[in-house]
Amino acid sequence: MSQAAALPVRGETAVAKRRTFAIISHPDAGKTTLTEKLLLNGGAIHLAGDVKARGERRRARSDWMEIERKRGISVTTSVMTFEAGEHVFNLLDTPGHEDFSEDTYRTLTAVDSAVMVIDAAKGIEPQTRKLFEVCRLRDVPIVTFINKMDREARESLEMLDEIAETLALDVTPLLWPIGMGRNFRGCYDLVNDRLMVFAEADRKRFGAVIACEGPDDDRIGQVLDTEEHAKLVEDIEFVRGVCPPFDLEAYRGGHLTPVLFGSALRDFAVTELLATVGAYAPPPRTQPAEPRAVTPEEPAVTGFVFKVQANMDPKHRDRIAFFRICSGRFERGMKLTHVRSGKTMAVHNPIFFFAQDRGLAEDAYAGDIVGIPNHGTLRVGDALTEGEALRFTGIPNFAPEILRRVRLLDPMRAKHLRRALEDLAEEGVTQMFKPLIGAGWIVGVVGALQLDVLAARIAAEYEVEASFEAAPYETARWVTAADAGEMKRFIDSNQGSMAEDRDDNPVFMARNSWSLTRAMQDWPKITFSATCERS
Ligand code: G4P
Repeated sequence: MSQAAALPVRGETAVAKRRTFAIISHPDAGKTTLTEKLLLNGGAIHLAGDVKARGERRRARSDWMEIERKRGISVTTSVMTFEAGEHVFNLLDTPGHEDFSEDTYRTLTAVDSAVMVIDAAKGIEPQTRKLFEVCRLRDVPIVTFINKMDREARESLEMLDEIAETLALDVTPLLWPIGMGRNFRGCYDLVNDRLMVFAEADRKRFGAVIACEGPDDDRIGQVLDTEEHAKLVEDIEFVRGVCPPFDLEAYRGGHLTPVLFGSALRDFAVTELLATVGAYAPPPRTQPAEPRAVTPEEPAVTGFVFKVQANMDPKHRDRIAFFRICSGRFERGMKLTHVRSGKTMAVHNPIFFFAQDRGLAEDAYAGDIVGIPNHGTLRVGDALTEGEALRFTGIPNFAPEILRRVRLLDPMRAKHLRRALEDLAEEGVTQMFKPLIGAGWIVGVVGALQLDVLAARIAAEYEVEASFEAAPYETARWVTAADAGEMKRFIDSNQGSMAEDRDDNPVFMARNSWSLTRAMQDWPKITFSATCERS
């Protein structure tokens, strides 16, 4: 092969540079602080605090976000694109409240890797674990950042043990902490054999990097006191003995997590974290689709919608579809086929999420996220292509864990209520089900907070007063059968428990887990699914 032929073309280089990732964590572990510092390190924002300040302004604009403000949480997700070194990073924010919604899960379908932030004093908390399980389903590789080392923390070895045991992962520390809390002196870089310490006079900021031959190097003895140095030598010998060396393939396969210790607040090890994601995290991955998988280097544009946010401006019924590009080079004004309807749509006003300057980007590549304004055409799971009839797989609806009957306070507003429920279902705030028998709607949510969001938004945006009453069902399952006759018999025999979802798919509503198990035993030819792929 000639040398010229071996050179990558522009699109290939652009794809190879991209790192599309999300931060997964439990509330309060430091995700917001870390995001700010990552953006700062990437040169994307100039003032720390911008992420929060921007959030506050956005919150002030919209009524329903009262809930977020009151509860001190952020429900909306967003995309931040920034460049650092030779990489373009797309950081997708996952809402971090305890009762998280399907949005959170779906955002993870649009990333190629994740950073898991753990509070050094608390270890792995429930939300982190849930999000981790979603990552594992898709083999999303994870870099771990153990945050708040500047506070009293648990023993570092104990933390590694917990990650390895709870999450069944191999762990490889890349940075090893020296001390903790008031005595946090810095970290030893196990990959490059160097010492990273805070400035002597001012423990608040990262100070110097000292190159060395190994942990017992004399140059370290000049910075650390004898006791600190002896412990460091002992720790590193032990850690190198018990932890496997870093293995890129194991990490990218989701079996091993590299671990960094640091402090987001003090901007310690944040640059190293970004460098780790840049160096090791995978570039845009091949996306599962039917009838064939899509590789990011393909020239034709393809992608899918993983999130729809309606009514960003309450005065207009506008929506933004968040579109993950899976292949090709996307340009402003481009005509794409909306595969579900077969119609062509011209994308005149795409939103590029460059944190520095939104207006600049004119094109985007595999791994990038583009916001597409529309009036309800685009739904979660929809594919856009340059003509090929593709369907991206693995973008699920989750069986709701809470079901409620919707009660309308003013019957004259029934149409508005239906519209509101449909819109919000499209956005993924809730799911709606129409029972086969009886009037009214049943809404299903994965977390209780979604109900509050739903009620507040229906009131604020659609001026409909509705309340939610207990429904006699505990859970729901999508039902399918290879044999249409069997399906009909099942539906006829269970009329009182049957409903249809928004796309007319049959759903079995179970009164409790016992009745679900019973139905599954009685009807072995019917498949009961806890997730339903968006069609
Ligand atoms: P979240 O988005 O994951 O919910 O966490 P967030 O960044 O808001 O951080 C939660 C709290 O932890 C904040 O304190 C933040 O300042 C603190 N924090 C984050 N990283 C570190 C760290 O490395 N070291 C220390 N010591 N604290 C850290 P807060 O008092 O709740 O909020 P704020 O008033 O400081 O904003």
